[in-house]
Amino acid sequence: MRYLVTGTAGFVGSHLAEQLLAQGSEVVGVDAFLDNYSRERKLSQLTGALEHPGFRLVEGLLQEIDLAGLLEGVDHVFHLAAVPGVRPSWGKAFQDYADNNLLATQRLLEACREREVPRLVYASSSSVYGDTDQLPMHEDALTLPFSPYGVTKLAAEHMVRLYYRNFGLETVSLRYFTVYGSRQRPDMAIQRFLLAAAEGSSVTVFGDGEQSRDFTHVADIVDATLRAAARGTPGRVYNVGGGSRVTVNELLALIEQVTGRRLSVERTPAKPGDVRATLADCSSARQDLDFSPRVSLKEGLEEQWAWLNSLAGRASQ
Ligand code: NAD
Ligand code: UGA
Repeated sequence: MRYLVTGTAGFVGSHLAEQLLAQGSEVVGVDAFLDNYSRERKLSQLTGALEHPGFRLVEGLLQEIDLAGLLEGVDHVFHLAAVPGVRPSWGKAFQDYADNNLLATQRLLEACREREVPRLVYASSSSVYGDTDQLPMHEDALTLPFSPYGVTKLAAEHMVRLYYRNFGLETVSLRYFTVYGSRQRPDMAIQRFLLAAAEGSSVTVFGDGEQSRDFTHVADIVDATLRAAARGTPGRVYNVGGGSRVTVNELLALIEQVTGRRLSVERTPAKPGDVRATLADCSSARQDLDFSPRVSLKEGLEEQWAWLNSLAGRASQ
């Protein structure tokens, strides 16, 4: 099988590409190396894939590159490219969210339609649900995004479904719930908190720290994504959660336990766009994909902490 992975140099995309290659597939990876974090870091995330003979990297924006050529001989597309952060999606930055999350998706879908690509899996987000107290979140619940980022992820999800309903492109959307693990993006909570533990610097908590998240380890995300490609029902949307819902305050205590370090905490007002709670109802993914998360939050934090320390070890050699 030959797969196209968009956003292949990113946190989730690089793990997915590696897993596909390990299974003996060919991967064409596309990434524009957007500056949400450094190019060096994204390239280093691709080290494993780039060493593999089955991997080809194409650098460029989905809005600009020759997609028809890229899709030549591709069996499935995994569409993970997006500008990902919730909190920075206000103001002028929204242009980037609209371009990369919505317009790029529409161009990719058109190319898939023309090339008659059989199947596309889209990385959607728990942020489509918005700020609700109806927990756990079920796929049939009302979607009322609370951030501009969430609006773009939901709009692209609708766009993806349209190409199934109108043109028969088999699409499956996965609503990932706050992903963590090795290579986690530097703007995200766990990465920031573990780095602070390693460096002895302070962490900043937005609001009272009683907001909660269903944290999902990247290994479980990759597993669900592969299952969606293999057996997801076309046109459907599935939650992918980790079954590890904790508050930010509880997370800090667990991080102190895992790292053996005391964290010094500064608090700032809550950020616009941040929802109070997320929790995935994963019964649809369990039923259709036979998916259940396997990595507990403690195990996942230990994995990410070990990775962070291995980077520091390499840098000091
Ligand atoms: P990431 O920033 O690490 O990876 C995304 C990659 O996509 C980046 O390397 C970026 O350069 C690339 N990209 C963005 N727009 C592009 C474009 N127009 N053309 C080509 N490349 C482009 O982010 P991530 O955390 O790995 O997120 C991956 C996907 O999962 C995103 O779609 C995100 O919305 C979704 N998601 C992530 C989380 C999470 O907690 N990380 C949760 C829910 C959904
Ligand atoms: C994450 C991803 O960044 C989004 O790309 C994704 O779409 C979303 O999950 C999702 O589930 O759909 P978020 O839940 O905000 O977004 O993840 P974190 O950045 O890890 O933040 C978790 C919580 O910690 C938030 O409430 C945030 O306010 C808080 N936080 C974060 C802090 O208190 N301090 C920080 O320094 C960072």
